[in-house]
Amino acid sequence: MNTGTTPLKVSVIGCGYLGATHAAAMAELGHHVIGMDTDTHKVEALNKGQAPFVEAGLDDLLAKHTAAGTLHFTASYAEAADFADVHFLGVGTPQQPGSGAYDLSHLQAAVRRLAPRLHDHALIVGKSTVPVGTTAQLRQILTEHARPGANIHLAWSPEFLRESFAVEDTLRPDRIVLGIEDGDTTSEAIFRAVYAEILGAGSPLIVTDLPTAELIKGAANAFLATKVSFINAMAELCELTGADVQQLALGLGYDERIGFKGMRPGLGFGGGCLPKDLAGFTHRAKELGADRAVAFLQHVDAINQRRRERTVQFAREMLGGTVVGKRIAVWGAAFKPGTDDIRDSPALAVADSLHRAGAEVTVHDPAAMENARRAYPALEYADDAASALTAAALLLHLTDWPEYAQADPAALRQHIAVPKVIDARGTLDTDRWREAGWTLRALGRP
Ligand SMILES: NC(=O)c1ccc[n+]([C@@H]2O[C@H](COP(=O)([O-])OP(=O)(O)OC[C@H]3O[C@@H](n4cnc5c(N)ncnc54)[C@H](O)[C@@H]3O)[C@@H](O)[C@H]2O)c1
Repeated sequence: MNTGTTPLKVSVIGCGYLGATHAAAMAELGHHVIGMDTDTHKVEALNKGQAPFVEAGLDDLLAKHTAAGTLHFTASYAEAADFADVHFLGVGTPQQPGSGAYDLSHLQAAVRRLAPRLHDHALIVGKSTVPVGTTAQLRQILTEHARPGANIHLAWSPEFLRESFAVEDTLRPDRIVLGIEDGDTTSEAIFRAVYAEILGAGSPLIVTDLPTAELIKGAANAFLATKVSFINAMAELCELTGADVQQLALGLGYDERIGFKGMRPGLGFGGGCLPKDLAGFTHRAKELGADRAVAFLQHVDAINQRRRERTVQFAREMLGGTVVGKRIAVWGAAFKPGTDDIRDSPALAVADSLHRAGAEVTVHDPAAMENARRAYPALEYADDAASALTAAALLLHLTDWPEYAQADPAALRQHIAVPKVIDARGTLDTDRWREAGWTLRALGRP
């Protein structure tokens, strides 16, 4: 196995938001890369240099390296195993239906199918988010399914990328964590060779044991979720007292121990990670008997859900007590700006809830329309932000895309039947909208 000199031969198993970005970034670092995914449509798109989702800068990297021949995608485990010495695992670890637990079946299947095909010397590095103890389970699968005598190293390096900054975060991570088995110096040496350029540029590397590496990722997301829910709990207090949560956040953020980042009050968090990681982390901690240590995280989740309910309640209040038969325009479907990811999107949860309550809901989003249409076919969709307002009695601003904050409220007035707006993200210029004749309510603000 080549452990020291670039280019290394690398595979990435599972090419979704994490894996496709990781594969492209590995190629950008100069390695020879094969991406493997069981979804043949994804493989086909990726081989054409197209990301099957919206992520800034990713198409360019994919196009550059697939054209250069240093990046290729396949649906074959055999091809990936035969090609590479280092295998990253980026398959999904979704929440099990009806439970907080992670569904690890994709990860287990990937290891089971990869193991017997691996070179006699190989390194597997997990990147998916997993509950503590997962790597030990995967080691057993590996032992059962690898060829006798094969020397397969297993390490875990959780991923911290943020969607919509995924390329940047992968190439210039704020830290890298590597969990290794007791006494395994080989994995660290190979890993350092893979990441030589990034480490050389100054990203810190924390080398630790496997349980710590697994826990770091869960703990990081639990903390981020807590920060969001903390400021949203303060928003609830503001709503009862006439205080302004935006100013409150400002007053907190200048304290360096608290900071501004992640202190954005609003409709709360969603997406494919924070909600399920919060649930999975809590579930695993309870399995381990740490119920009391994580009891507060249930409140973090409850506060987050309440922001959605509060937005629906605001809508009802602004429409005279009922939404039945009322036309409502919704700006935003993606769980956050800069992505077309609608997994557990707060915006769509609110839109769907209003629709179920009897409203006629028209949604606009700059990037996530196709995904939203597929997941919520009963909602109506408008091709542009202004036409979503046609005949509406209320506008809901639910995903903080910059174009919504930049829109001209005076020009928009003519499109809507009744100029009322709820700013659930706190990014509309309230004075400007009110001066343009809109009745505006914002979460956590007077
Ligand atoms: N999306 C993020 O921002 C992000 C950030 C950090 C960590 N993570 C973690 O990364 C993991 C992947 O997340 P994602 O958002 O990329 O999910 P995703 O659903 O976009 O991608 C998962 C991919 O794995 C593929 N897959 C499933 N089973 C497979 C198998 N047996 N073999 C090969 N491919 C298989 C799927 O087809 C899919 O393309 C999760 O554990 C997630 O928590 C995600």
